[in-house]
Amino acid sequence: MGESVRSLDSLPTITVGADFAIHRGAILAQAEREHGPIFHVLDHLNRKWLYLVGPEANRMVMLTHHHDLSHGEGWERLTGAIQTLGEGLLFLDGEAHRLIRTAVSPAFSGSAIGDVAGTINQIIEKHVESWRGRVSVDLYEEVYRITFELSAVVLVGLKEERSIKDLMRLFHELVSLDLRGTEETRSPISNVRARRNEIRGELIDLLRTVANRKQLGTGSTPLDLIAASSDVDGVAISDEALVAHANAFLIAGHVTTSSLCAFLLYQIASDQTLQERVAAEVSRMLEPSGCFNHRQINGSPLITDLIKEAQRLFPPVSELPRVATADLTFFGYLIPKGTTLLCSVSGTHMSAKVFRDPERFDHTRFAEPQSEPWSLVGFSGGPRRCIGANMAITEVGLIIAHVLNRYALEPKNESEPVPVYSPFLAPWGGIAVRLSDR
Ligand code: HEM
Repeated sequence: MGESVRSLDSLPTITVGADFAIHRGAILAQAEREHGPIFHVLDHLNRKWLYLVGPEANRMVMLTHHHDLSHGEGWERLTGAIQTLGEGLLFLDGEAHRLIRTAVSPAFSGSAIGDVAGTINQIIEKHVESWRGRVSVDLYEEVYRITFELSAVVLVGLKEERSIKDLMRLFHELVSLDLRGTEETRSPISNVRARRNEIRGELIDLLRTVANRKQLGTGSTPLDLIAASSDVDGVAISDEALVAHANAFLIAGHVTTSSLCAFLLYQIASDQTLQERVAAEVSRMLEPSGCFNHRQINGSPLITDLIKEAQRLFPPVSELPRVATADLTFFGYLIPKGTTLLCSVSGTHMSAKVFRDPERFDHTRFAEPQSEPWSLVGFSGGPRRCIGANMAITEVGLIIAHVLNRYALEPKNESEPVPVYSPFLAPWGGIAVRLSDR
């Protein structure tokens, strides 16, 4: 170790209030400008977090040192997610992660997405058509329903409406059971644990009894591919582990996609010129069947740049939590083994050094190629980049196409929707818009 390596004790600390949940990216970008890419944040609950911000930090965390950083420990310390959801792909490390990621990757290839694009189109069309006759909708609520159904059908392999509803009910109860919150609500932790185990049991039964559960492992959904694989000891994947993977796909796949898509639709709703451009663009691509060709939608520079800008300004995952499994150095500081760190996606995205006028929604910024690598990282990067990124981009593009093809949108409220992170992005109070038929 060189003499110039400094201890984390000598880092600057910024103190933040409760509004950190809303203005996180801007606050972190400002701190990075003043103090450099590594500093402590003392939050309103008096908790101290080590933050790393900026392209260099992203490159270190996502690429050069990803082997020395635990995802599972990081997410568990930040959210307690493993206790609640089990140890799905998102939370695995090392060889256990590599095996599952390799097994499941074919389900996310371009051709696999092509195979399910028709189903995705149909589900979106069914939901969007059901808005007909309504004068307003909450975009977040509606898109949340669509992406849950898409995840249940495309990722988990459910087919019947009853099973999809049951999955949604059980999944929501599971994620709302917060073990740490129970002390405040005086609900005995043992009761919560018991209910959590019951729900996991019901989820296992659901997977077993759905029509295709008998053949789970023979189809081509991500869950099928996992069911057909084995763990590090060569043992077949247990039902409990399968539920954990299904939970990880649901939490990683639909909460994220719905918030990004709802915030983007709102941006389009609030700019009439842009809205007419998007509507004209998608109407050119409408096929006689009433569907859209996802390759054409994904190939549209306008839609691609809009999704990139929404990803930049409203990153659904604002930070990547990690625990160091070896001593690391960054920017002259020693990060000892066992340290928890947060690599900030939103802080990078709001950095004026990287993006001019960062607070502004301006999709045209992507018309020119980005000069700075590791700057747009809403889907992370490197070997553990989001496995569902192309699926998410396809879903968002198709939702935009179906909505703008049918309806003209207009914001319903004077004030803009408020993006809140806890820890994933969601709009406080929803995103209401007025609808009229095109
Ligand atoms: C707009 C939508 C989405 C965003 C912004 C997003 C973002 C991310 C990010 C930032 C990570 C890295 C997390 C970390 O390293 O700690 C990640 C990982 C992951 N995402 Fe996504 N995601 C989205 C949609 C999806 C979808 C549709 C799926 C479908 C299954 C998905 C599945 C996953 C999985 C399984 C991982 C873990 C991959 C691994 O560790 O190997 N995501 N996502």
